[in-house]
Amino acid sequence: MSFGRRFAFATIASAALLLGFCGVAQAQDCVPGAPGLGDAYYPTYGNGGYNVSHYDLDVAYDPATDRLDGDASVRATATESLCSFDLDLVGLDVRRVEVDGKRARWSRSGQELIITPKRPLQKGRRFEVEVRYGGVPVEFVLPGFGIRTGFMATPDGATVAGQPEVAASWFPVNDHPLDKASYSFAVTVPDGYEVVANGFLRGRDHRGHRTTWEWEASEPMASYLATIDIGSWDVHQWQTASGLPVYDTVDSAITGGLRAVIDSSLARQGEILTLLSDAFGPYPFSTTGGIVDNQDDLFFALETQTRPVYSKYFWLDQNGNPVNGDSVVVHELAHQWFGDDVALARWQDIWLNEGFATYAEWLWAEHEFGVTPAEIFQEIYDAIPADSPLWTVVIGDPGVDLLFDGAVYVRGAMTLQALRNEVGDDAFWAIIRGWASSKSRGNGTTPEFIALAERVSGQQLDDLFTAWLFTPAKPALSPALSMSRVTGERHAATWLQDVQRRLSQGRY
Ligand code: ARG
Ligand code: ZN
Repeated sequence: MSFGRRFAFATIASAALLLGFCGVAQAQDCVPGAPGLGDAYYPTYGNGGYNVSHYDLDVAYDPATDRLDGDASVRATATESLCSFDLDLVGLDVRRVEVDGKRARWSRSGQELIITPKRPLQKGRRFEVEVRYGGVPVEFVLPGFGIRTGFMATPDGATVAGQPEVAASWFPVNDHPLDKASYSFAVTVPDGYEVVANGFLRGRDHRGHRTTWEWEASEPMASYLATIDIGSWDVHQWQTASGLPVYDTVDSAITGGLRAVIDSSLARQGEILTLLSDAFGPYPFSTTGGIVDNQDDLFFALETQTRPVYSKYFWLDQNGNPVNGDSVVVHELAHQWFGDDVALARWQDIWLNEGFATYAEWLWAEHEFGVTPAEIFQEIYDAIPADSPLWTVVIGDPGVDLLFDGAVYVRGAMTLQALRNEVGDDAFWAIIRGWASSKSRGNGTTPEFIALAERVSGQQLDDLFTAWLFTPAKPALSPALSMSRVTGERHAATWLQDVQRRLSQGRY
């Protein structure tokens, strides 16, 4: 197909040469943008040849029909001279595509929306693509778990959360964390529905029987972190002690004891962010808050930028009784540093997100109960037998089906504690803070993290990381470390039980 298009241009170019239009011939020196960004796990996600700077998404959603109609403007810069380029779009019908205000030809192939502008886009050129589209968004199933994810219609609106697959099912996108951009959302819903999204609420425009909610997220964001959530929300706007604006939304159908424990966790966000910024460096964004829907079949939480989405089940025990769920809020807020501000460059490096966020839960356990991460590490290490999946999953390259396996979380956090044991507290915190600050607004890979750890500590750490990240076996501990005493035993044991339960469910 790409050969065909090149060939067509070559013919036109030589015809132009014969006619003496040399300038035109030069302009035809272009390539089709790659249909993927080379991700080993998701080869067709993302596209080559351009960088997006901003998505302006104007969408109308009708909960009665589940229909979404959108007008997306995507501002980008060509990084190659492009005869054509792709956006990712799954399902949904395309009605019209314009590039810089001029109709463009387009075709579809799998999740690729292939756009051929009237004239090639020169390398370095800024351009704007406008796509009008609509339909009922398709959902995804999380591999290995079989649970709903993506743009999920709910009885009272919609929840939008998925990792890595979500964005392409509701807007045309360069769908890979490598291409971060700012976003504005104008979401139109019928009377009786309300909308929350990332960033700041900038306006509300009521016309006829519909309201358009305008949200703006100006800090660069990976596509899977974009969320719009439609429902009937109780909104709580407040500020943390340090002055950070908070916008919390809890489904108004959540009441009673469950509501009390959710509200009490959300009320601690300021305290949690203080603990995490003392550990990791300044909070990277200008607002925060949480979104808790009453959706019965939402079984995970997601670090949607500035405003995580939470399943209500984090606040319910196995018998359906309300429980303290502070640690999931710690987890998702920790992702604001590791996952969001420092995003993955390759999905295989997922432990850089989940291991760090789980380690933050251990820091919270220390803050709350006095049990140290070293003690939690030791308790788990001693208790989990060598044949457990905790040791047989290669968390540095777990594969698509095990991307969110419990082992990635727990062994990921243990890897950080093993590093801390090896290099000592000062070097460890310098590494963690150096990672957060040097990669802020960008992306990082496991080899880059290892290189930073070696540079900061001055130690050779290949053996440690090979054992903890890339070997399907229980790593050996040096004798000095395995003797470290557990003092906060009760709470370390609580963590161990939690690990055992989550490992047995294969779910985190
Ligand atoms: N990153 C999420 C977390 O905070 C996990 C999301 C897994 N679920 C999904 N649908 N991808 O742990
Ligand atoms: Zn996580």
